[in-house]
Amino acid sequence: MGTVITFANQKGGVGKTTTAVNLGATLAETGRTVLLVDFDSQGNLSSSVGADRTGPGIYQVISGELPADKAVQETPQSGMSIITGGADLTGASVELVNEERREYFLRKALAPVTDRYDYILIDSPPSLGLLTLNALVAAQNVIIPLQCEYFALEGLTQLLQNIKRVQNSYNKELDLFGILFTMYDKRTRLADDVVQEVIGYFGKRVFRTIIPRNVRLAEAPSHGIPVNLYDPGCVGTRSYQKLAEEVLHRAKATQTR
Ligand SMILES: Nc1ncnc2c1ncn2[C@@H]1O[C@H](COP(=O)(O)OP(=O)(O)O)[C@@H](O)[C@H]1O
Ligand SMILES: [Mg+2]
Repeated sequence: MGTVITFANQKGGVGKTTTAVNLGATLAETGRTVLLVDFDSQGNLSSSVGADRTGPGIYQVISGELPADKAVQETPQSGMSIITGGADLTGASVELVNEERREYFLRKALAPVTDRYDYILIDSPPSLGLLTLNALVAAQNVIIPLQCEYFALEGLTQLLQNIKRVQNSYNKELDLFGILFTMYDKRTRLADDVVQEVIGYFGKRVFRTIIPRNVRLAEAPSHGIPVNLYDPGCVGTRSYQKLAEEVLHRAKATQTR
């Protein structure tokens, strides 16, 4: 059975989508099979790999129109596929509100394909609404990207409370896989202060890999390819490769625990 990881943070612009696509691609480079799931109505993850957003996507899958495997598209990264997301998801969160077991739609929808991949990576929207709840219920692991800035910790308590709630009520196996620092800028002392504060509090839960600010990471999506294909030698690529190694290492450690 594949490992399902959701990227969550109700703040926008912290690196959820960037991490989903580039961790996915660097995991695929190591020979793992990866399925990306774009569960955000903005559809940024889908555009990041140049996917066709006019065809069926995750909305059609959760609404039961077609099985997940029929919505899978290849991406420019060999070994990595995607189920696209987009504007119709905005409607889904409204439609689901009155449904029974509305927290389990994504989990149910993905169940038939989770054993076909080593990693299923779910990108979630910048809110703590029903879509994010579904993404957390569908996962075994959650990664929280945090931007290295003063306000990074704002809202973290609320996010952690939500994760607890999901663990208690819907999905016992959900684990906080790690907190990932993104957009680190070594020129600012503030960044170091924030990193130290979070490490002091969360200890080993914090990934040792810190993703630096790197313009290649911001440019790659406009070309519809992950950073490792856009600029294989850049610091953005190398840092996501390091993160992939760390994720593989941690996944092994939990399996043998
Ligand atoms: N490490 C980084 N260095 C430079 N730009 C980045 C980095 N990570 C993300 N970005 C850019 O910052 C913006 C927000 O990142 P994104 O991954 O879309 O955040 P989220 O999905 O949490 O809203 C995007 O324009 C993205 O290209
Ligand atoms: Mg995003």
